[in-house]
Order: sequence, then structure tokens, then C-alpha cells
Amino acid sequence: MKSKKLLIIGAGGHGRVIADIALNMGKWQSIAFLDDSNTTTFMGLEVIGSTHNISEYINEYEIIVGIGDNGKRKEIHEIIESLGAKIPVIIHPNAVIGSQVEIGMGTVIMAGVTINCCSVIGKGCIINTGSTVDHDNHIEDFVHISPGVHLAGSVNIERGSWLGIGSIVSNNISITTDCKLGAGSVVVKDITEPGKYVGVPVRRIKL
Ligand SMILES: CC(C)(COP(=O)(O)OP(=O)(O)OC[C@H]1O[C@@H](n2cnc3c(N)ncnc32)[C@H](O)[C@@H]1OP(=O)(O)O)[C@@H](O)C(=O)NCCC(=O)NCCS
Repeated sequence: MKSKKLLIIGAGGHGRVIADIALNMGKWQSIAFLDDSNTTTFMGLEVIGSTHNISEYINEYEIIVGIGDNGKRKEIHEIIESLGAKIPVIIHPNAVIGSQVEIGMGTVIMAGVTINCCSVIGKGCIINTGSTVDHDNHIEDFVHISPGVHLAGSVNIERGSWLGIGSIVSNNISITTDCKLGAGSVVVKDITEPGKYVGVPVRRIKL
């Protein structure tokens, strides 16, 4: 039975993809946005307020943060969590999720993703289109796995890191907090210092 309402904070690219997935899931009787632009509808869905008055909606809606930037998503996610919001997990019907996979609240799993058994995904993560997360991975909170990324078995990605489109991480590798990996990066050794990394194999380019 559809009995709930979904509110998406942010109607930019990521927020609108969440809306599209939520429509496909067919779980909510209505879907709306909070957004700070002057636009009143996106994709035919109403913008009912701005991000400055989130607390008004806590009791009436399930709420998810639809902001791509890891830091901003974390900041707003932590506010709504502390206000007691009910924060859903959004999983595209065409994602494949193995057994004993745990997924934290506010995480979005997009179309064509495969997550193999026994992997643990934290809260507020983005597992983007067509990426694969193999067995026994541990992806911490507020990580973004971009489209087409492939993570082999037993990979650890620590809090807040961002893996650019098409990057590849070999098995048993750990990537520390707040790393940014460029498009097409290949990681074959642990990354232990936060920073920006690019190339095959990756090298650090900036702090
Ligand atoms: C890594 C990245 C974030 C760096 O951006 P930036 O800080 O603006 O860095 P710059 O563009 O100034 O590049 C710095 C150097 O790294 C190189 N570089 C940048 N990205 C690279 C990449 N993906 N692979 C190899 N080299 C790269 C640049 O050529 C440049 O080299 P140079 O100093 O010899 O000229 C960006 O290039 C990137 O790859 N973004 C991925 C975008 C993405 O995946 N989007 C998906 C969102 S869902």
C-alpha cells in the first residue's frame, strides 16, 4: 500500500535522479522537493519549500538528501537525522543486491548497480549508475561511487571519499577518508593519505 510521502532535499541532477528512481519504486503516494531555486516544479513534482525550513516536514514525510556534493549531503543528512527524520534507502528496481548486504539510511543505489554478498554500505552514500561493488566490501558513510566504477572483493572505502567515473579498485585495497579519485583511476595499492589522485596506477596530484 502506498501510504507515505517522500521529500527530496535538492532538485539538482542528483535530486532529480532520486525522484526518477522513487517514481520507479512506486512506494510513495507523493514525491516533492525542497529547493532554494525559484522554480516551482521539476519533472512535474512540486517544490514545496526551501532548505531553510526542513524541520516543518519531519513528521509528515520520509526525507532524503538529494545533493551530490559529499560534504553538503553529510551536513544536511546529519541535521535531519538529529531532528528524528525517517530517512529511506532508495534502490532502483534494476539494481542487483546480493544476500547479507547492509545498506545505511539515505543511501541511493542507482540503475544497473550490482552489489555482491556480504558488503556493507554506510549511510548517505551514492552508488551511481552501472557501478559494481563486489563481495565483502565496506563502504563508509557519505561516500560517492560514480557511474561505472568497479570495486573488486574486500575493498574498504572510508568516510567521505569520492571515486570518479570509471575508476577501478583492486581486491583487498583500502582508501582512506576524504579522497578524490579522478575519472578512470586505477588503484592497486592502499591509499593512506587524504587527497586528490589520478591515473593508472593512481598518483597524488593535490592535497
Ligand atoms: C580528478 C579531478 C577531480 C581533478 O580536477 P581538478 O582538481 O580541477 O584538476 P585539474 O583539471 O587542474 O588537473 C590537474 C592535473 O591532473 C590531470 N588530471 C585531471 N584529471 C585526470 C584524470 N582523471 N586522469 C588523469 N589525469 C588527470 C590534469 O591533466 C592535470 O595535469 P597537468 O597538471 O599535467 O596539466 C577531475 O579531473 C576528474 O577526473 N573528475 C572526475 C569527474 C567525474 O568522475 N564525474 C562523475 C560525477 S557523477
